[in-house]
Amino acid sequence: MAEFVGAVDQGTTSSRFMIFDHSGNEVGRHQLEHEQILPQAGWVEHDPIEIVERTNTCLQQALTKTGLSASDLVALGITNQRETTVVWNRRTGRPYYNAIVWQDTRTDRIATALDRDGRGDVIRRKAGLPPATYFSGGKIQWILENVDGVREAAENGDAVFGNTDTWVIWNLTGGTHGGLHVTDVTNASRTMLMDLETLDWDDELLGFFGIPRQMLPEIKPSSSATAFGTTLGGGPLGGEVPITGDLGDQQAATVGQVCFAPGEAKNTYGTGNFMLLNTGTELVRSESGLLTTMCYQFEGERPVYALEGSIAVTGSAVQWLRDQLGIISGASQSESLARQVEDNGGVYFVPAFSGLFAPYWRSDARGAIVGLSRFNTNAHLARATLEAICYQSRDVSDAMTKDSGVTLETLKVDGGVTQNELCMQIQADVLGVPVSRPVVAETTALGAAYAAGLAVGFWKNTDELRENWNEARRWEPTWSQEQRDEGYGRWKKAVERTLDWVD
Ligand code: G3P
Repeated sequence: MAEFVGAVDQGTTSSRFMIFDHSGNEVGRHQLEHEQILPQAGWVEHDPIEIVERTNTCLQQALTKTGLSASDLVALGITNQRETTVVWNRRTGRPYYNAIVWQDTRTDRIATALDRDGRGDVIRRKAGLPPATYFSGGKIQWILENVDGVREAAENGDAVFGNTDTWVIWNLTGGTHGGLHVTDVTNASRTMLMDLETLDWDDELLGFFGIPRQMLPEIKPSSSATAFGTTLGGGPLGGEVPITGDLGDQQAATVGQVCFAPGEAKNTYGTGNFMLLNTGTELVRSESGLLTTMCYQFEGERPVYALEGSIAVTGSAVQWLRDQLGIISGASQSESLARQVEDNGGVYFVPAFSGLFAPYWRSDARGAIVGLSRFNTNAHLARATLEAICYQSRDVSDAMTKDSGVTLETLKVDGGVTQNELCMQIQADVLGVPVSRPVVAETTALGAAYAAGLAVGFWKNTDELRENWNEARRWEPTWSQEQRDEGYGRWKKAVERTLDWVD
């Protein structure tokens, strides 16, 4: 009898395949990075073929390492970097262009124009999103307008769009030999094209971007026994496994952190940071610069909504210290370097490399390091980088309290940066609340596995999932209120310095 659930996590810097048992423990994994293609300032692309090939290798290798086969997997969940846009030909399976990544700012003009004539307000009301380069709608428009032949192919039904969940599912279920063209409500809620109330593509929104409806995948619940088909017998798993879960990575992490009740929140620390607060079946509209988004929808149940604070650059600021400045040789060294100093020595670093996302939504912002004196060293900059991760999270946490009236009692955290003990201590200090990390820190893949397993009865209900959650580590705040207020006040001043930088 099949005893395990598999999860594909197709992320921004890597793809991985993980296998979990009934207790939510990891049984095996394989992970591969893919190239970050940076053709010019502000542009970020991925090769969709490379993504599919690497994902397939992860599936094969994880089975080989664990000695398991397709028949040991009861179901498969898919989770993905959201918003990243792929347009391909459904007859040949060839992408028309590289995937345009969520961090890419080439659609700046498209986004700005939306706010000049009132279309922006319609998008805010229907899709819950501020017009921004971040989301898929503008990226699809850019491909339609700039890549030869795509407009015509889209109009005659050959060119189709998907985020990377859709692209991976289409390939796993058959590709040009009958692959399914589907997505889920959480991914669809990141396009600026779906109405949050009807959970369907909206013709007025499609009209804003000139996108033909037939390009778009069918929208399904995030957990469903039948919606996403079955892997091809001759595919990378070497057998047929039902795909029964699909949700965006941040929503998957929310499920993996078992935030099933309204008022429960998690913060994921990856290339960016994403804080999501479950607001239940009620759609809460943000007045404070957060996104209103789908949290998840389990088949046969009402959809659950979330408020989200998306931060573009957190872990990738540490990568910048490594790759562009060369002051550390690996991400973990950011901790040892920052520990060489007692505090930030007056230095504040606002890594607004892609403009500022929540709660500011300023695409005209650019990064700044302020407060420098001759006394400062690399160690202060490393410390300021870790603080930037935490202060940006304070910005979105304050916005959440304003919008929802919910005050955080503990912050549940996950993601790669949470291995940085100093950063997590600073986070508790900056927020003034304890920070808690679970035993299974791979909550994104786990959440996709949970969505898949719930659909086939492998897990009976969310109560059973709650029992799998155990705390591994907790950080208590140590700063005085005065220290906290002073630091945050200076951070806000530093943020002001980054605005109005690009015309
Ligand atoms: O919205 C972007 C987000 O989904 C990317 O997450 O973990 O792949 O950087 P990650």
